Amino acid sequence: MSAPESVLDVVPVMPVVVVDDLAAAVPIARALVAGGLPAIELTLRTPVALDALRAIVAEVPGILVGAGTIVTPQQAADAAAAGAQFLVSPGATPTLLSAMVDTGLPFLPGTATVSEVLAVLERGLTEMKFFPAEASGGSAYLKAIAGPVPQARFCPTGGITPASAPTYLALPNVGCVGGSWLTPADAVAAGDWARIEALAKEAAALG
Ligand code: 3PG
Repeated sequence: MSAPESVLDVVPVMPVVVVDDLAAAVPIARALVAGGLPAIELTLRTPVALDALRAIVAEVPGILVGAGTIVTPQQAADAAAAGAQFLVSPGATPTLLSAMVDTGLPFLPGTATVSEVLAVLERGLTEMKFFPAEASGGSAYLKAIAGPVPQARFCPTGGITPASAPTYLALPNVGCVGGSWLTPADAVAAGDWARIEALAKEAAALG
């Protein structure tokens, strides 16, 4: 998929995916697309993550592929070289922000406080991740900061469930939510792609 104007506006729920088994990457991505979620945040938390990213880019047309859990400048560069179309970080230091800017890709830097939001806004960026969402104050926190910093838009992630997602999605400063619930470990282990497709379908309907 070509890069959209805003990563926040592609899907209501951004699937956050951890791939341990390279062979599972493409079937997971296909199931998400089939269920109506043509986007994926593939976390760089496993040894096969970059290979999984390359495989999805090569074999799953029509999906927007992002690299998540970017915590070092090198990971930002590696993810871009592997074909990532956007980047997501759990937090943001000035060095990491610069490295993500340098890739030329859209990205969602992680924030959890108003000062962190202001630091990102100072760099001319208005879209970010809110992480860990539930532990950092949840939808009530985002609602409270929409007044003082209305220009910031978020993808809250961390502890969000199908039950809590609609409350976040109703907020004016939320574009999408992120969640790992679409790819339960037991479904992946069993190769139950139909279950992942069904979970994606339910999540897509939240939009
Ligand atoms: C992330 O990497 O963004 C989170 O670990 C995903 O959080 P969740 O597993 O609570 O959805």
